[in-house]
Amino acid sequence: MCGIMGYVGTKPAAPRLLEGLSRLEYRGYDSAGIALAGEREVRVFRCAGKVAELADLVAARGMGTETAGIGHTRWATHGPVTEGNAHPHRAGHVTLVHNGIIENYAALEQEMAALGRKPLSQTDTEIAAMVLDAAYGGDPVTAIRRMMEKLEGSYAMAILFDDKPGTLYAVRRGSPLVVSGNEEGTWIASDITPLLAHVRRYFVPEEGQILIATATGTVLVDAAGSVAAPRWLPIDWDDASAQKDGYPHFMLKEIMEQPQALWKTLQPRLGEDGCVSFSGDGIPSAFFRKCRRVIITACGTAMHAGLLGKIAMERMARIPVTVEIASEFRYAGPILDADTLVIVISQSGETADSLAALRLAKEKGARTLSVVNCKGSSIARESQYVLYTHAGPEIAVASTKAFSVQILALYMIADQLALGRGDYGPAQRLAWAQSLRRAEALAARTLRLAPQIKEAARELKDAENLFYIGRGMDSAMASEGSLKLKEISYIHSEAYPAGELKHGAISLVTFRVPVVAIATQESVRVKMLSNIREVRARGARVLLITREGWQPEEGLCCQVMSLPAEEDILAPFSVAVALQLLAYYTAVERGLPVDQPRNLAKSVTVE
Ligand code: M6R
Repeated sequence: MCGIMGYVGTKPAAPRLLEGLSRLEYRGYDSAGIALAGEREVRVFRCAGKVAELADLVAARGMGTETAGIGHTRWATHGPVTEGNAHPHRAGHVTLVHNGIIENYAALEQEMAALGRKPLSQTDTEIAAMVLDAAYGGDPVTAIRRMMEKLEGSYAMAILFDDKPGTLYAVRRGSPLVVSGNEEGTWIASDITPLLAHVRRYFVPEEGQILIATATGTVLVDAAGSVAAPRWLPIDWDDASAQKDGYPHFMLKEIMEQPQALWKTLQPRLGEDGCVSFSGDGIPSAFFRKCRRVIITACGTAMHAGLLGKIAMERMARIPVTVEIASEFRYAGPILDADTLVIVISQSGETADSLAALRLAKEKGARTLSVVNCKGSSIARESQYVLYTHAGPEIAVASTKAFSVQILALYMIADQLALGRGDYGPAQRLAWAQSLRRAEALAARTLRLAPQIKEAARELKDAENLFYIGRGMDSAMASEGSLKLKEISYIHSEAYPAGELKHGAISLVTFRVPVVAIATQESVRVKMLSNIREVRARGARVLLITREGWQPEEGLCCQVMSLPAEEDILAPFSVAVALQLLAYYTAVERGLPVDQPRNLAKSVTVE
């Protein structure tokens, strides 16, 4: 979603802003712009298009010598994708970029109209700029505070004032923003990816704090007007981990990284006795004690990981677990208390819906634990405890390695929840930890099937509609496989629990609708085979994803992909890789922009 960049320092700002924006491209965007603060004027460059086009525009007009500026990649929310709606927006003395949504912009627009101010764009952002300019009397901090009192919604903003050319201001509420600095100056960005090449530490301004940045450093002013100390966080990702490293796409690189990501996530949680332990994460075992039920809430792929976590937790801990889509959870009037554990799963840690669900859970007194990949993100900071996954940066919009490590994290949590059960003793714990150690090898062995999966993708590439079906854990995997295919190949697909198909949707199955049937679960194998026969009888071409050694009868399936899997509960670590590769190669066959699919954003920071 929208990306924000800011730089103030001793070097020319334009190339640094453009380089930073190109590192933020992965978040998903449709237009871009920068503003450069000079002594006499603020130069604004904008275009509806890619950062490369913006760079050409700036180069044509002159990169300039300005040493302060702000930049933006826009993911349209208010008004179409046009140059006029691209950020930065100017109003009077003010130039700003914004990520988020100003919910009361219509009322504020009327207020501004009463002052004789009319916007040029259709954006909520320009209204915020007008509100800020109307409040400006020479003191930026006072004006920003007044603006914040008026704005409703979520925002991160980087701001320039015409008469303060060497100073950059920033503020956030409900949207991400990180800050860092080195001898070259101060950097502001929506996330740490543009900072990786420059610095090894950063901080996140608290909501409501105002950041004042100059070439020599930063000052944070809190709501009461006092200077606040930043809480610095180390950066433990390196710049190389956010590069393609010879792969044609980030998505393929990230799929290939899954074995290491699984090991890096598991290894620090294996105690001296070989069992799962969260002591290094500072999560006491007592936190899980007397927990009567669990609610897992998340969005998209992270929510699918939650479906698998539910099965593992209910099996192992025998406590009820529900999985709620975060954007629905908040409005469903959930019943929460201190004996309810709410687990929020998020790769980015900034998904607005998931963050809102977390805040509600806290407000209602539930225990909260987050499973997050991005260190220091809002969800990680605001939950009671955080269990970090160690997938490293995930740049492709389609989530892959983050999904596998989320499943692993939830499986580890299942162990901690099961501790309350009398019959879950050291032997069972050790056996479980040994099972988890096998996840890495299962993912690695499945990666070796890439050439075969590529062939299967050729069969799918011209389909207009298809079904993914499965039972039990495979039903959750069907949902994830279908989502992956939809988002990057633009082929319509539906995921169905295989037994449910005959209750309606089977009417859509014809020889033109291929079916990806996932059958890795021993416990439902026979039933699953019956469901496959049902779709085959209606002419569907079936791609069967199953376990090594399971061979269906002749003629039932057009293609069979046999994956390594030793027990039902571990199958998702193989199936995830296979389904990701299937979606990836299908999108490549169709010649689509795999890493940045249309309309999508990596980090969805609006509700
Ligand atoms: O950063 P999060 O894990 O909170 O993101 C949640 C979803 O937006 C995300 O998983 C999305 O569904 C992916 N693009 C799917 O590949």
